[in-house]
Amino acid sequence: MDPEQTEPQQPPGAPRRAEAAVSIAPSLAGRPAATAASREAVFRLIGVGVSYAGKPAVRDVSFDVHKHEITALIGPSGCGKSTLLRCLNRMNDLILTARVEGEVRYHDVDLYGPGVDPVQVRKKIGMVFQKPNPFPKSIYDNIAFGPRVLGMSGDMDELVEGALRRAALWDEVKDRLKENAYGMSGGQQQRLCIARALATGPDVILMDEPCSALDPIATARIEDLMLDLKDRYSIVIVTHNMQQAARVSDMTAFFTVELDDASGTQRTGRVVEYAPTEKIFTNPDDSRTEDYVTGKVG
Ligand SMILES: Nc1ncnc2c1ncn2[C@@H]1O[C@H](COP(=O)(O)OP(=O)(O)O)[C@@H](O)[C@H]1O
Ligand SMILES: [Mg+2]
Repeated sequence: MDPEQTEPQQPPGAPRRAEAAVSIAPSLAGRPAATAASREAVFRLIGVGVSYAGKPAVRDVSFDVHKHEITALIGPSGCGKSTLLRCLNRMNDLILTARVEGEVRYHDVDLYGPGVDPVQVRKKIGMVFQKPNPFPKSIYDNIAFGPRVLGMSGDMDELVEGALRRAALWDEVKDRLKENAYGMSGGQQQRLCIARALATGPDVILMDEPCSALDPIATARIEDLMLDLKDRYSIVIVTHNMQQAARVSDMTAFFTVELDDASGTQRTGRVVEYAPTEKIFTNPDDSRTEDYVTGKVG
């Protein structure tokens, strides 16, 4: 994997943090208070850490990701958000130097246990990246690709239409399914990538800064789509955009990067605070969270 691909970028015209903090509170108004105890966990992270070539990038991550919720991972660049996200569908397996420790439980099964097939894992836990990355194929074939590789049975036309409908793209592309996906706008390409992830029948979608290459209108469409999708799926999103986290997510994990006590030189990411999004943005427990969400530090 290209590490560049995981570097966050601030989209042009995106609000600066200080402005973001001011306008976040209204978007939370009227949000029902989250009640963690009653909710089903899709993922249970227990002491999860990842190192690259022996150097810890993120450590001691323990929290639950709840079903039919949007969970946001926020924090400064390099604190391990993408690394942690990749643990959730075993994408770090593809990075030869990466080692995952601790336990990632998915519907109470150890995701890294013996007998778990990473291909099946990625079928059930889809991923959408920062830059839209459609295949250089037709719109139809982009969606059909995963199901065909996986040997999924059923009516392919129906499957393609269903995925495009769920990604709010069908009406825009139904008359040009055979055209190359590269002819679509950036926002359409990103919704195509979401449709492609939906086509294999997942129950979780992981998104790594899915809007950072998009304009505000395309971003708003993806955010609306995420809110629609959470009725059926659970979503974990890494975002650099605080307003986005506040607008769409139910729970937020704030990560920071600190000097490692043991070595004194190694910088390692960890979770400072994990709480309902409203709490993180209006009344966090930790002063580091407050400094970050109010834009005092970045
Ligand atoms: N493929 C990789 N190989 C080696 N180091 C990596 C790789 N990906 C990320 N890292 C390192 O891990 C740390 C966390 O990176 P990352 O997860 O990309 O952070 P974030 O997404 O929060 O910006 C950084 O120090 C980064 O340089
Ligand atoms: Mg990242």
